[in-house]
Amino acid sequence: MVCLEEAITVSGEHKPVLVEEALVALAIRPFGKYVDATFGRGGHTKKILAALNSEGRVLAIDQDPEAIRSGQAALGDDARLRLHHGSFGELEDTVSELGWRGDVDGILLDLGVSSPQLDTPERGFSFSVDGPLDMRMNPAYGMDAASWISQAREQEIERVLREYGEERYARRIAKAIVNARAQNPITRTRQLAEIVAAAHPKWEPFKHPATRSFQAIRIFINQELSVLESVLPQCFRVLKTGGRLAVISFHSLEDRIVKNFMRTAARGDDYPLDVPVTADQLHPQCRLVGKAVRPGEEECRYNPRARSAVMRVAEKI
Ligand SMILES: C[S@@+](CC[C@H](N)C(=O)[O-])C[C@H]1O[C@@H](n2cnc3c(N)ncnc32)[C@H](O)[C@@H]1O
Repeated sequence: MVCLEEAITVSGEHKPVLVEEALVALAIRPFGKYVDATFGRGGHTKKILAALNSEGRVLAIDQDPEAIRSGQAALGDDARLRLHHGSFGELEDTVSELGWRGDVDGILLDLGVSSPQLDTPERGFSFSVDGPLDMRMNPAYGMDAASWISQAREQEIERVLREYGEERYARRIAKAIVNARAQNPITRTRQLAEIVAAAHPKWEPFKHPATRSFQAIRIFINQELSVLESVLPQCFRVLKTGGRLAVISFHSLEDRIVKNFMRTAARGDDYPLDVPVTADQLHPQCRLVGKAVRPGEEECRYNPRARSAVMRVAEKI
């Protein structure tokens, strides 16, 4: 079976998604200060740096120590770049430590996992290569997937699969996991993929039956949605007026959070419908820049991972 995960990871490198579109969205000023909050392998950071002059600066953040190590090796000599190991959930503190609060020209969030994370069996993200069942983007922080699977209640596993993976067969799969762990501890990615595949009654073409379950567990283990919810308001606190926020999502749940946040921030304060207020009195925080941007056919052909990407952009006012 050819599955999306295999298709996107054969090359081992990370192909950045919507790069040109992100540069346009950020409206790069050559002397500006930019935050790439999801450095990965620096695909977007490199392009931003190329558009800056010697005065411009980039703060690049990633919670994966491997991403930061690779960034040091590839770009460590560029004095305009500051690499920071940490979660973008602490964006405001990290930016404040540099003295950039309220002075940032643009922030990019390119959410999810990178191809090297999926490709490296030891990271435990992949159902197609065997490895320890870990799935933490920062292996020094929080509980790994094997520990969670070993002790979570059946209903909790079901909830995670349903909520974060939109898995229709969450109940069956959760039951199968609990039955299997009573026989042997589930410690390997292949082991979990086989348990899920055996329990899954409806295999979709070109999609491994464990795709949704692995995605759900990864999102849960890394608390991806709650960290996203917490970073978005921080972005408007650190941006300068006129500064841009661009967010690339790969999952409908992420995109919903981003879309609702930006719309609400663009609308401003809530008043009862019968209270007459002027636009000024609503205190909107931003204006929406264009519509949602999706990659074109050519990008999706060249990089199948791009297929589910959607970018939304807002400008602080
Ligand atoms: C899709 S990749 C980014 C790829 C990057 N734009 C490039 O072109 O190479 C997402 C990256 O964000 C990182 N990441 C995800 N959640 C994070 C968080 N809460 N804080 C910091 N980094 C995070 C992941 O470790 C991963 O390296």
